[in-house]
Amino acid sequence: MSTVRVLAIASEIFPIIKTGGLADVAGALPLALEPENVATVTMLPGYPAVLAALPAAEPVHRFPAMFGGPARLLRGRAAGLDLLALDAPHLFARPGGPYQSPDGPDWPDNAFRFAALGLAAAAVGGGCLRDYRPDILHAHDWQAGLAPAYAHYNGGPRPGTVTTIHNLAFQGQFPGDLLSLLQLPPQAWSIDGVEFHGAISFLKAGLALSDRITTVSPTYAAEIRTPEGGMGFDGLLRARAGVLRGILNGIDTKIWNPATDIALAATFDARRMARRAVNKQALQARFGLATDPGALLLGVVSRLTWQKGLDQLLDNLAPILALGVQLAILGTGDRDLEQGFAAAAEAHPGQVGCAFGYDESLAHQMQAGLDALLVPSRFEPCGLTQLCALRYGTLPVVARAGGLADTVIDANEAALAAGTATGIQFAQGMLLMGAERAAALWRQPDIWAAMRRNAMRCDVSWQRPAAQYAALYRDLIAARAA
Ligand code: ADP
Ligand code: GLC
Repeated sequence: MSTVRVLAIASEIFPIIKTGGLADVAGALPLALEPENVATVTMLPGYPAVLAALPAAEPVHRFPAMFGGPARLLRGRAAGLDLLALDAPHLFARPGGPYQSPDGPDWPDNAFRFAALGLAAAAVGGGCLRDYRPDILHAHDWQAGLAPAYAHYNGGPRPGTVTTIHNLAFQGQFPGDLLSLLQLPPQAWSIDGVEFHGAISFLKAGLALSDRITTVSPTYAAEIRTPEGGMGFDGLLRARAGVLRGILNGIDTKIWNPATDIALAATFDARRMARRAVNKQALQARFGLATDPGALLLGVVSRLTWQKGLDQLLDNLAPILALGVQLAILGTGDRDLEQGFAAAAEAHPGQVGCAFGYDESLAHQMQAGLDALLVPSRFEPCGLTQLCALRYGTLPVVARAGGLADTVIDANEAALAAGTATGIQFAQGMLLMGAERAAALWRQPDIWAAMRRNAMRCDVSWQRPAAQYAALYRDLIAARAA
């Protein structure tokens, strides 16, 4: 089987720069694809963190003028990943996150920052590097959406193109009058091109012009073809249903391994579950909660945004706390939600605790010490935290949406009888009912322990998804050769 060369294009990658699950996927999928004989190089914007991770990178190409300044491609390895960084100081040498200035708002030139990424990827796809030419360009989310578009409009031989939707809510919309400044041809301004309701949408570009589209769970692949879940793209996605597929995410089971995790107070596995209690106790202490092993410890590890539905937790706080449970929140995001949870912690010392910010070790400690993880998302393309929870024996209590529906087996009577339940699903908006069911199951320790064993037995690794991506790449190459 010949090696497939994939150039992945992503705006974040774990462990170098991360705001959410996209980084986890971009960092883990290349490693999982190696046994499938797929060699991935990932192109990233040359943010300070990326350049710092590549001190010995070699310049392999120069763009004399890339949207207002010179740029170069640096090739190097970091964290086991083969990387191409787009070093363009006028676009990327800035403090702050990948998309925003340190004080909050999006960078005003984001259209150019991420168009540059797409342009560079299309140039590599077109053969601008002497010793590397990919078979596939794999664009992740809107930030990479112009890569397939430039490859399409450039004419000439090009690699196969795949766009993966991690989140349809982020569409990369910019004013239509940027079209020529973005070096897009006039014909791109059409319903089959980059135009979306009078604006340019980078995501639309990827969805309209890629050979294949994937998203990160089968249920989300179905939801986004409906008016309710399509966020304006359902028509396009229905028209392209023949090339759209849902492939579930996995997690890196080496990084997320309770038997070896150095962040934990005590490592454990399915045969040494008693040690898990040490993590719960440490977590209760960390959040200022009563160190009561018998209290049901519910938690959240999440961006605090509308998507994640955590306002429902605040709205139902009183009846949920009346169940006698404890609550530990790790999150960062909307100020209103942070303030709401901070006020809840103040009003209920010993029962509610919060940590605001982004804390990778604490995320691991929570998965190891919580009894159940609450994920009341309004929509969830895949969701990774419930997969981490399963692996660490924390039972996910999730809204029935997207990848949450695909990865958690609800503790209904049939699943309990069959011994397959791994968590709780509740209908949209019914978080309180989910919490009540969790509290009822907690009062039946044998059932809880059995569900926990089922959870820890789930295959949440990248093995199966990686095989599906590899097959998709090979099918696409074969289809284009035919
Ligand atoms: P999304 O990408 O929509 O935020 P996912 O569940 O796919 O949701 O991925 C979230 C990732 O970010 C997971 O790896 C999770 O552990 C991590 N995460 C979310 N919030 C925090 C936080 N406050 N601190 C540390 N890790 C977090
Ligand atoms: C997005 C989605 C999340 C998904 C992640 C990785 O951030 O919100 O559901 O797990 O991308 O694909």
